[in-house]
Amino acid sequence: MTRYMTWLGFLGTLLIVAALGIAALREPARQVQAAEAVQAAAVIEGTDLYAQNCVACHGASGEGLAAYPPLNSEGVQGMDAETLYRVIERGRYNTAMAAFGVDEGGILTQMQINSLAVMIQAGTWDTVAARVAELGLTPPQITVQEVPPETLALVQALPAGDSLANGLTTYAENCAACHGANGEGSSLAPALNSAEQRARLTDDDLTRVIIQGVPGTLMASWASALDSTQITDVVALIRRWDEVMQSGVQMPVIEAAPVDMSPEAVASGQRLYSLLCTQCHGAAGFGTPLAPALNNKTFLSQTPDAAIQQIISLGVTGTSMPAWGGYLTEADIAAITAYLRSLEATAPVIAAPPAVK
Ligand code: HEC
Ligand code: HEC
Ligand code: HEC
Repeated sequence: MTRYMTWLGFLGTLLIVAALGIAALREPARQVQAAEAVQAAAVIEGTDLYAQNCVACHGASGEGLAAYPPLNSEGVQGMDAETLYRVIERGRYNTAMAAFGVDEGGILTQMQINSLAVMIQAGTWDTVAARVAELGLTPPQITVQEVPPETLALVQALPAGDSLANGLTTYAENCAACHGANGEGSSLAPALNSAEQRARLTDDDLTRVIIQGVPGTLMASWASALDSTQITDVVALIRRWDEVMQSGVQMPVIEAAPVDMSPEAVASGQRLYSLLCTQCHGAAGFGTPLAPALNNKTFLSQTPDAAIQQIISLGVTGTSMPAWGGYLTEADIAAITAYLRSLEATAPVIAAPPAVK
């Protein structure tokens, strides 16, 4: 009997050991499975957070828009998780990259930042782009100008023409939307073709502004978007602008796609305006102490549709004017522009501020 019990005991022990052994064998697989589930959930959460907070600058596929750096690069994907986390949490001082962490005055919790970092490291950019499109958050296309081949040939014929031609192409693709097709400036940015400015700024000054940007303004740092040859060549173009013009080069002024002024578009713009803009710009655009009047003949007559769309999309850095590009579609921004334009005929002329005595 006791023998029998011992055998049973032994068998039991064997069974327990075996079960433990199997469990021990299965444990890593289970852990991997659990970790994969956590990771998948983080990627999904990170994708939506990215769509809502980051596309306006880093693009729907992480490709980087205009001067804003790509996040789909090997460099960023290869950053260690902690560095990535810290950039998102704390931002980069004196750049448009704001601190997103709640502890730093931002809006994202630790979990959310972690999900963003996991998503960026996973590099699932096709899924991100599809989700961004699904949410209607694909940012509007920044206006890019084409340099006509005959213009390029004219520029290439000048001394050191290849560098100038590269400068002109770089300028057309990246700078013309704000600084004007021929460097004449716009409501968004100063002229770059004036003799006064050439006298004031050396080549080193120009290079520095382009590389560093001007914090607190729309002038971003172009250090990561342009290579050093492009920067040298665009500086050469700015330096020799008169010569380029005198050789007969005249870039076609950018024609933005006309804004749809149909009553439906205006009505939809008015709805969006009431929802998003009234608290600062006032009912019917008459202004408040927080923000200037937009229902204002001077502003509307001097600001082309493309510039209004660009201001709404990019915001005004360093002020409370938000960048709406990440929240509104191109069609929404065009509709708001149509609504503002519809006010022009009856807009009061705002008197110029009284001269300081
Ligand atoms: C208003 C524009 C803007 C928005 C919105 C924005 N960023 Fe950035 N981001 C930048 C700029 C500009 C830089 C480069 C800063 C510098 O010069 O170091 C940057 C840099 C980064 C970098 C480091 C890239 C590198 O190569 O070192 C990461 C990561 C990043 N952003 C993630 C995000 C995430 C995630 C979001 C959304 C939660 C976001 N950013 C939203 C403008 C933006
Ligand atoms: C989104 C609009 C925008 C784009 C795009 C842009 N800039 Fe600017 N740029 C500005 C603004 C605004 C200023 C004025 C900043 C200030 O207040 O000092 C400026 C200033 C400058 C200045 C200094 C001018 C001066 O008189 O001090 C230079 C040079 C310049 N930009 C070159 C460029 C080049 C080259 C590009 C393209 C690679 C470019 N910018 C793209 C908006 C822009
Ligand atoms: C939180 C406040 C705030 C909200 C909300 C806001 N704005 Fe602004 N907006 C401003 C401020 C402040 C300025 C002036 C920036 C400056 O000093 O250049 C401005 C400037 C502008 C300008 C340029 C005006 C000019 O005279 O140069 C336009 C256009 C504009 N906003 C459109 C909009 C639209 C459209 C919306 C809604 C989608 C909106 N804003 C929502 C604060 C706001």
